[in-house]
Amino acid sequence: MVQTIPQLRLTTQSEMIAAGTTALRCLDWDRDRFDIEFGLQNGTTYNSYLIRGDRTALVDASHEKFRELYMDLLNGLIDPGTIDYLIVSHTEPDHSGLVGDVLALAPNATVVASRTALQFLQNMVHHPFAQRAVKGGDQLDLGNGHVLEFIPAPNLHWPDTMFTFDRSTGILFTCDAFGLHYCDEHLFDDDLSAIEKDYRFYYECLMAPNARSVLTALKRMEPLENLATIATGHGPLLRHHLGELVERYRRWSEEHNQATNTVAVFYVSDYGYSDRLSQAIAQGITKAHVAAELVDLRATELVEIQEIVGRVSGVVVGTPPTTGAGAETAQAALGLVLANVRAKQTFGVYEAFGDCDEPITPLISRFTDLGLTAGFPAVRVQDVPTGATYKLCEESGTDLAQWLSREQAIQQMKAVDVNVDKAMGRLSGGLYVISALKGDLKSAMLASWVSQASFTPPGLSIAVAKDRAIEALMQVGDTFVLNILEEGKYIPLMRHFLKRFAPGEDRFVGVETLAARNGSPVLRDALAYLECRVASRMECSDHWLVYCTVEDGRVANLEGTTAVHHRKVGNHY
Ligand code: FEO
Repeated sequence: MVQTIPQLRLTTQSEMIAAGTTALRCLDWDRDRFDIEFGLQNGTTYNSYLIRGDRTALVDASHEKFRELYMDLLNGLIDPGTIDYLIVSHTEPDHSGLVGDVLALAPNATVVASRTALQFLQNMVHHPFAQRAVKGGDQLDLGNGHVLEFIPAPNLHWPDTMFTFDRSTGILFTCDAFGLHYCDEHLFDDDLSAIEKDYRFYYECLMAPNARSVLTALKRMEPLENLATIATGHGPLLRHHLGELVERYRRWSEEHNQATNTVAVFYVSDYGYSDRLSQAIAQGITKAHVAAELVDLRATELVEIQEIVGRVSGVVVGTPPTTGAGAETAQAALGLVLANVRAKQTFGVYEAFGDCDEPITPLISRFTDLGLTAGFPAVRVQDVPTGATYKLCEESGTDLAQWLSREQAIQQMKAVDVNVDKAMGRLSGGLYVISALKGDLKSAMLASWVSQASFTPPGLSIAVAKDRAIEALMQVGDTFVLNILEEGKYIPLMRHFLKRFAPGEDRFVGVETLAARNGSPVLRDALAYLECRVASRMECSDHWLVYCTVEDGRVANLEGTTAVHHRKVGNHY
């Protein structure tokens, strides 16, 4: 069954995936941004599932943008009034946005979720509903062999996430975990090469900041001997390459977990801004090869908080609430963090944009009085967070992580064979400034690892370090300008763009610019510029090699020559 609203390119799809089990997929072909600022060139899907034994369960609902299409799809498959259970894996709106609509048609359904998720759903749905709180090891027998088991998987990637396993079909319903933002009509992971880049990108954006939680979840999956399918909440279901793709999660998470430094991000989940701000900081931390650990102050045992503070190199704290539900618990936990930090640790604080938050200035003073070093200027959030706020958080996390890794970076530089190092240093490049504008975000970076890469279409490659702020604005499909600096005139621009910018700082203050046709800034003093669009990216250890096609370009001075960058060694720029 396929239905379409053509102007929105929203479609739905349903298919039996095992005995008594049907996938309901909402295909969002054009969505180009998801969460924070993640690039999304391949759209996404929102998947939910019907399991029919003697009783019927619906696993997750869908995004509210699919209201009409999803309810039509559901009505076409079943009388919603016969749904006995609505299992909610977690409460993020892209899967729970239509819970209220489903319950309106299934008034007798029991909502099955973690205790925390149920509390949140009560506020979301605004009318009473039957509910059952489940925890790890609990089972729900639907009859006809479908005995569902619940497996807590907190932080993947929402605090209340729970997996559901149906041993009779070997299907594990994981929602966000093991998913990818990839929209096409292939129900399963038939073509690994088509999806593996998006699978990796999704992991880095959403799961890497919770690598420890991924490993915990993988451990909990080990007893699932007949695991045959992972029914994800986004993208294709994993079946044909299940072992390989699960193994990749393990390998990547172990790599993150082996980082020399770890930073704990303490926050209080409010299923909104606080979570996203915290995740943006954690993602910024992982971009600089430092492990991050998100810790909910209100939901974590005090003894565990003490243990975490004892082993991490840095702590980041989002201002917890001083009043309201759980405020006392959060304040006690914060007190424990403050009582256990050590002077050699690095700290960061940010406003979580909740009601009645702890004031940020006294919190900063507490950390500095205890002798800790600030890893980034406190992030003050006065207005509803925007893309720029999340980018500021990401850059703050990266700054803190770079500070923690500075000695390790020097050691790595020294580890290169001296002859190789000198020979690499004989590679030369031009001097360029990349400038990019994307929505309310703009950024710039001095670059020299730039090379023409194709004639038709005209294309070039640029190597961008993974921890560069501009990297987030150079996803596939993004546009930017490559400014080519001029011999004899480049020094002021080089000095300007070489300096260390504070997180979120406007890179263009004091620099004359014009807008290119693609909107990105062109430096008035550049020798020439090229308007580029990112076509593909290749992961190269600590850099992304970005291939882009050139869509336009101008030379300001036909007599000028390109500034050249000569180095003595190859272990740094
Ligand atoms: Fe896909 Fe956490 O929502």
